[in-house]
Amino acid sequence: MTQPSEHRLTNEEIAGLNRRYTFFSWSVQKDVKPIPVVGGKGIHYWDAEGNRYMDFSSQLMSLNAGYQHPKIVAAIQEQATKLCAAHPNSANEPRGVLGRMVAELTPGNLNKVFFTLGGAEANENAIKFARLYTGRHKIIARYRSYHGATYGAISLSGDYRRPPVEPGIPGVIHVFDPYCYRCVFGYTRQTCHRECITHIEEVIRCENPDTVAALFMEGVTGSNGILVPPDDYWPRLREITQKYGILLISDEVMSGFGRTGEWFAVDHWNVVPDIITMAKGLTSSYLPLGAVAVSEPIAQHFDDKYLYLGLTYYGHPMSCAAGVAAINAYKEDGLIENSKTLGKVLGGELERIKQSHASVGDVRYIGLFSLIELVKDRTTREPMDAATMGAIRNQLLADRLTTFVNQNWVFVCPPLCVTNDELHAGLKIIENALSIADSKAKA
Ligand SMILES: Cc1ncc(COP(=O)(O)O)c(C=O)c1O
Repeated sequence: MTQPSEHRLTNEEIAGLNRRYTFFSWSVQKDVKPIPVVGGKGIHYWDAEGNRYMDFSSQLMSLNAGYQHPKIVAAIQEQATKLCAAHPNSANEPRGVLGRMVAELTPGNLNKVFFTLGGAEANENAIKFARLYTGRHKIIARYRSYHGATYGAISLSGDYRRPPVEPGIPGVIHVFDPYCYRCVFGYTRQTCHRECITHIEEVIRCENPDTVAALFMEGVTGSNGILVPPDDYWPRLREITQKYGILLISDEVMSGFGRTGEWFAVDHWNVVPDIITMAKGLTSSYLPLGAVAVSEPIAQHFDDKYLYLGLTYYGHPMSCAAGVAAINAYKEDGLIENSKTLGKVLGGELERIKQSHASVGDVRYIGLFSLIELVKDRTTREPMDAATMGAIRNQLLADRLTTFVNQNWVFVCPPLCVTNDELHAGLKIIENALSIADSKAKA
């Protein structure tokens, strides 16, 4: 079907073409009811009929600067007029400038970058870096995690998306998470002995540390439940990994670029991992780009050893120009600070919401990275059922707010440019929808 250029497609036509000719991720195809997105500004986007939605999950926790930031759009336009593509082993200006910016933003001695097209590829290449550098092959990752859909990345991932596509890559071992609300060891954060840390050391010992290349963890677990670890978690795992010569890798694809109120989540605990992977917020999602930032010793290792990595679109000038502009926008607009400041307001509001709604079992938050966990019974912690979660999603949609609703969690992760008023307006809509869950919860 061709369209005359003046013909603007309707919502129905756009959705119809998408459904007929393209697949939707992680879904039974016939159940998908996509919202056609035709434009946006700040924290809002709209469809072809002008219906305007408030976005409380930043597309998928990635549109950190909000919709259509004029300076990022202009930088992309300008780069397009100059140079749209370059051979991966040629040098180009945006690639070099962005490499330096990332090196400056990442903590400690993480000073050299390998670019990719997205998060999964960043993690694929981090696995390769770890194996090539250490000469070991095992990777320890966590159950409540998502690291991407390609084979290495899905093998690292612990959530429901891995088992259907197994067997994955060999050598990945999973450990338990700091999910304090549902601690697998049966404790609370106040009563535990950090079994979530000590059991990882025990697993390392059992596996023979000399075979373990890396411990691979999200800076703060994102789509698997915003699991903010206890303050000593990252520092102690840094010590343990150093003790056994194991690399520590932080996947900051979702938690990076100000989402948690710092440039990277590990900055909250002053931990310098050996490798940080990133994507999403790196360009505020305006163009596809990921990166693997590695420490000086890893970088130097490849000064005289072959680097078995490569991609046609490596260091793509368009994406790198978007990255430079996105980071400049975060700095100029004070978006990392806004995430930190409004994150505190958000945390306070979520605690208040927890007190006033019988269906809220737990709230977890750090910066503008947060969720509300809904239960049927606060004593047994039985998760809220899927039908009720669906009804909440529909109510939010009717009130023109969209967000990620996964399992029994309602995510609250607006773009980092959100204002105080917008944050409160969105929370009011969410609170209103919680009354549906309250009616299903034991008082
Ligand atoms: C923590 C984390 N790592 C990796 C990925 C995969 O990134 P991508 O979808 O760009 O491949 C995601 C995506 O949601 C993620 O949340």
